[in-house]
Amino acid sequence: MEILTNFSLKNFNTFGIEAKAKQFVAVHSSAELKTILEQNKSQKKFILGGGSNMLLTKDIDALVIHVDLKGKKIKEENDDFVWVESQAGENWHEFVLWTIDQNFGGLENMSLIPGNVGTTPVQNIGAYGTEIKDTFVSCEAMTIENQEVKTFTNSECHFGYRESVFKNEVKNQYIITSVVFKLTKRNHKINTSYGDIKVELAKNNPEASGQTPTLKEVSNAVIAIRKSKLPDPKELGNSGSFFKNPILLKTDFEKIHQKFPEMRFFDISETEVKVPAGWLIEQAGLKGKRFGDAGIHKNQALVLVNYGNATGQEILNVSKIVQETVFDTFGIQIEAEVNII
Ligand code: EPU
Repeated sequence: MEILTNFSLKNFNTFGIEAKAKQFVAVHSSAELKTILEQNKSQKKFILGGGSNMLLTKDIDALVIHVDLKGKKIKEENDDFVWVESQAGENWHEFVLWTIDQNFGGLENMSLIPGNVGTTPVQNIGAYGTEIKDTFVSCEAMTIENQEVKTFTNSECHFGYRESVFKNEVKNQYIITSVVFKLTKRNHKINTSYGDIKVELAKNNPEASGQTPTLKEVSNAVIAIRKSKLPDPKELGNSGSFFKNPILLKTDFEKIHQKFPEMRFFDISETEVKVPAGWLIEQAGLKGKRFGDAGIHKNQALVLVNYGNATGQEILNVSKIVQETVFDTFGIQIEAEVNII
């Protein structure tokens, strides 16, 4: 394991922001991770997975540890279910495709989400009506402080909308090294409740209406929808949804809704609604706006993009303009989903 100094992180964050790590090391096994942590006890550390959910606004004055543990396997199976384990550094989308190729169901709606497997529990990633928490069994994680290994079960992760224990109670304390999912081998729970999926499936195969689609068909539909709305980080730096969809108390929402009757919303409990931030940003007139090399994506207003050489600070400034404009227009506060470093 070589520790590199003054290392550019441009290729290690999907925004493609130029920022330097004071020191950088890639670890390929739990044993290597343990050694690095033991040997650098007093150093400030920064843990880097796929770099798909962060905005670097400055150089990192720390030892950056890039978690690059690879490997995936079937841990256990019966006639109905399979327990698959993936190491943290596996690319999420490649892992999803590997499960679909073997006809294992449960992850298909989350096809093409950028990032690595190890960071998926941190923010309970989700798309098209499914979240990690629906198939997540457990993950193994090591403490940065004294290299103890702990298994977190699903309930111990305290999953919520883009939330988990790793963003709250034990923030910055653990490094996730592997994750186990329980997937179906038959009687797949195909979920096409998200309208866009139904529309896409019907486009591809009009005769099949009423029939249950295969895992591959659902995955292909999700891939097509994402490609049409979300920019590919390899072509245009971005971090997926930059903001979370705000959750409002129904009592507060009703007052706003009277002023803006066309506002979209989804009931999420007896007392709360979720409002699509993309809609708010678009209606506030910001979709597709560009400020130098930073901007708001033209097809999905929730996504901020780097047109080339934007700095993290410039993207952050655009995010503030978005937050202020949405607040001034609708009186709704939207929060960043990505980690701002
Ligand atoms: N909308 C607009 N304008 C926009 C974007 C969206 O009016 O520019 C409206 C849409 O017409 C629709 C509603 O907002 O009525 C919801 O839009 P969409 O289905 O595109 O989903 P989203 O709420 O904008 C969330 C996730 C995405 C995920 C999709 C699909 C969050 C923060 N984002 O976006 O996740 O792919 O649903 O499930 O929850 C990510 O986290 O990086 C991400 C891409």
